[in-house]
Amino acid sequence: MTSRPEPTVLLGVSGSIAAYKALDLVSRLRKKGVAVIAVMTRSACELVGPASFETLSGNPVAVDLFPRSKPQQIEHLALADAADVLAIVPATANIIGKAAQGIADDLLSTVIMACRAPAVCAPAMNVNMWDNPAVAQNVRLLAARGWTMVGPAEGRLACGAEGRGRLAPVAEIEAAILRALGWNDDLAGVRVLVTAGRTEEPIDPVRFLSNRSSGRMGYALARAAALRGALVTLITGPSDVPAPEVGTLVRVRTAEEMLAAVKKHLPLNRALVMAAAVADYRPKNAAAGKIKKTGRTTTLELAENPDILKYASVHKKAGTVLVGFALETDALATNATKKLKAKGLDLVVANGASALGSDDNDAVLVRKGRKPVRCGRQSKQDLARTILDEVAGLVARSR
Ligand SMILES: Cc1cc2nc3c(=O)[nH]c(=O)nc-3n(C[C@H](O)[C@H](O)[C@H](O)COP(=O)(O)O)c2cc1C
Repeated sequence: MTSRPEPTVLLGVSGSIAAYKALDLVSRLRKKGVAVIAVMTRSACELVGPASFETLSGNPVAVDLFPRSKPQQIEHLALADAADVLAIVPATANIIGKAAQGIADDLLSTVIMACRAPAVCAPAMNVNMWDNPAVAQNVRLLAARGWTMVGPAEGRLACGAEGRGRLAPVAEIEAAILRALGWNDDLAGVRVLVTAGRTEEPIDPVRFLSNRSSGRMGYALARAAALRGALVTLITGPSDVPAPEVGTLVRVRTAEEMLAAVKKHLPLNRALVMAAAVADYRPKNAAAGKIKKTGRTTTLELAENPDILKYASVHKKAGTVLVGFALETDALATNATKKLKAKGLDLVVANGASALGSDDNDAVLVRKGRKPVRCGRQSKQDLARTILDEVAGLVARSR
């Protein structure tokens, strides 16, 4: 079981003239919902201001091995632990040499030494430095230890010389980092509609009926789909956690509002993943003013809410992939199979009530013409990836 709240790239920026290009990398990664913590060397700070990295990453930039604040934690170890991927962009001849030879004499080189995450390294330097046998040997050493080396590219260098030494295109570096994070591009350009969160059904202006859904599962799906290149529209009810950055974000409150948003966006999308916990019932007549105590038992009349999945299965364009969630307290696989058939879905993700509000999920995947697959207890991020593997396969088959 893993419980990774959000992928984090620890970005080491060293003192190359190409350091400013790492700012574009930070923006691209942030757009995909990847957290970035930048560690800059003193030389890098001479070439680009840490404030730019701080602003774009939304995180403080670490430079000092012995910071005056944070006495309660050892910074280089905390940083090394935070990394899902370590990326050195750009990498100078100096930092490559230190990493290869086990030298740890400043914050970045010490973090590199302490970090166990997969490493991606994008060198940038003058062509003669790149051709230097010491640099070549250090690069070979790092590659042999499993580091992914991206570039350098050939072309005109900042010093005016021609040859190999330019930082690789940022898109290539980004792709290598995403691969190291375990994401891929199998949903590139595919429009995916995700619903998430709970709905709130008003009883009066200050009270409502709802459920304990946190929004985490739907948000994990939306972010994971975006990381795989999907153009994501996220329709979300209220939730406990901040919504991820996606192409289009639509906020709704009630089941009826969610249905209206799905009606609008469904025709534009190749897949609908309906992870929202939509209330089955709403108070039939919401009171205009706050309901007062009467000293007597009172009855709340409930009306059935629209069935959004049923709507989608009747009105979808041919080839649209439909994924539903089933919250079941017993007979998960059996009940999910019934839902799959009754609503004409391609895939049902069945989970127990313990998934509500939790970071983990223990789901069963039920798909047309296949035996139910138990996923085992795993983080919602990991389950999101498993579900999207299925969605990508279904989308590819329906092309
Ligand atoms: C303007 C300028 C540009 C530089 N560009 C590079 C470069 O692209 N690649 C490189 O390996 N070193 C470059 N250097 C040299 C490094 O900054 C120097 O080796 C430094 O010690 C690297 O420290 P660091 O690896 O801790 O950042 C440059 C130096 C200056 C003054």
